Amino acid sequence: MTGGSYFVLEGADGCGKSAQAASLTRWLEAQGASVLHLREPGSTPLGESLRRLLLDPAGSDLRDVTEALLFTAARAELVQKVVEPALAEGRIVIAERCFASTLVYQGLARDDGLDADWLVELTRRAHGPCMPARIFVLDVPAEIARSRRRGHDEDRFENRGGDYHERVRRGYLSLPRTDPTCVVIDASRDFDAVQRELRERVIAELR
Ligand code: TYD
Repeated sequence: MTGGSYFVLEGADGCGKSAQAASLTRWLEAQGASVLHLREPGSTPLGESLRRLLLDPAGSDLRDVTEALLFTAARAELVQKVVEPALAEGRIVIAERCFASTLVYQGLARDDGLDADWLVELTRRAHGPCMPARIFVLDVPAEIARSRRRGHDEDRFENRGGDYHERVRRGYLSLPRTDPTCVVIDASRDFDAVQRELRERVIAELR
């Protein structure tokens, strides 16, 4: 039985989840909560090594199945070694990304994406019983996401062109149909409006 709460911010590259997660973390801490802000892939030694390997724009041409397994390996380490113990101590976990990224990026957004049932099974193995209480999908049109990304070096996933970002967006928007923990938030609004909604929703969950 876990005492804490596990929340995830998700969405296409450029949706603003890192800045929103940082602001939400600071605000919860100011309310007296003990909060752990994590990112996927990353936030463990293996996870950060895999992150460098997976996101390197000059990186190797990995097969989709290899990518899914490596993202999931990083996730298993993070969930079992960091998230579970934090929840057991009653802490709040705010994570950037979760298995939903794998379902979208390695599955739904690709023409020849991996089988959804297999990806869900893989996810179950990585998480065990420790699943997010809520996954907040920050939704922005591809054009806004692109302009927000301008000015920072693109990783291997961000520099895919064409309608790829639109497919990522559609993939995310389809998630609530099969996973009721996913909530879509309109992140095309200004930063403070999005942050306000996140705070209200998190507080509602913690009540
Ligand atoms: P992100 O952490 O958002 O990087 P940045 O902070 O530089 O924007 O992005 C990681 C990238 O990895 C992102 O393009 C999505 C991709 N990704 C997957 O393809 N599958 C996954 O399971 C995860 C967690 C991320």
